Amino acid sequence: MDMTPERWQATCSYLDDVFGVEDERMSSLMRRAVEAGLPDIAVSASVGRLLLLLVKITGARTIIEVGTLAGYSGAWLARGLAPGGRLITIEPVDLHADFAQREFDALGLGECVELRRGLGLDVLPGLVSELGESSVDVVFLDAIKSEYPGYFPHAKRLLRPGGLLIADNALGGGDWWIDDPEGVNESRDGADRLNRMVAADEQFDAACVPIREGVLVARRRAGR
Ligand SMILES: C[S@@+](CC[C@H](N)C(=O)[O-])C[C@H]1O[C@@H](n2cnc3c(N)ncnc32)[C@H](O)[C@@H]1O
Repeated sequence: MDMTPERWQATCSYLDDVFGVEDERMSSLMRRAVEAGLPDIAVSASVGRLLLLLVKITGARTIIEVGTLAGYSGAWLARGLAPGGRLITIEPVDLHADFAQREFDALGLGECVELRRGLGLDVLPGLVSELGESSVDVVFLDAIKSEYPGYFPHAKRLLRPGGLLIADNALGGGDWWIDDPEGVNESRDGADRLNRMVAADEQFDAACVPIREGVLVARRRAGR
């Protein structure tokens, strides 16, 4: 069976309809965010449910997200946390962070979500010092794709054995796909480099779920 753009779109809609079921506050979150001037670039509902599932499987108590936007993926992640757990989510744009904070509060997640305002590459090294190496259960990357290879060493230090590195846009984004030629789009090249770094790293078992724009999932093996 050939995959056409129309069939791919129908597949994504099917997945969101069947597996992405969500409550009214979540289903309206990105519409309200766009009305408030934020870009419409959050994960889909079916990717959100995958995040929730992965967080629950991991029994996560500490999650780091790079790229908060309106708090949509963060809400899925935080809803999967074990009791007493927390999500630290990094966002440099005040408009986005302010909106997300209001949503986390309205969703009853204000207590377990901590917003750090700043750039991923500036905030992550401080988190390694603050939280300690091998202390984090899940790191979710969804900020600047060209910076993905730069986030990886920090994520690697932060993740505990058995912890998960998850990255959205592992296969594509608004104006690129992974089979485009190298050297044309820096987002494509950043995602490709991260995929290859993680796949080749002996400390990780990794796979890519080709849902929507691709979700890289990698589990840190036990032992250094
Ligand atoms: C694709 S959106 C995140 C979507 C969000 N994870 C979701 O699915 O609901 C990327 C976000 O990263 C933020 N961002 C931009 N540059 C960044 C950087 N250097 N470090 C961290 N976040 C950054 C953007 O402002 C934007 O809000």
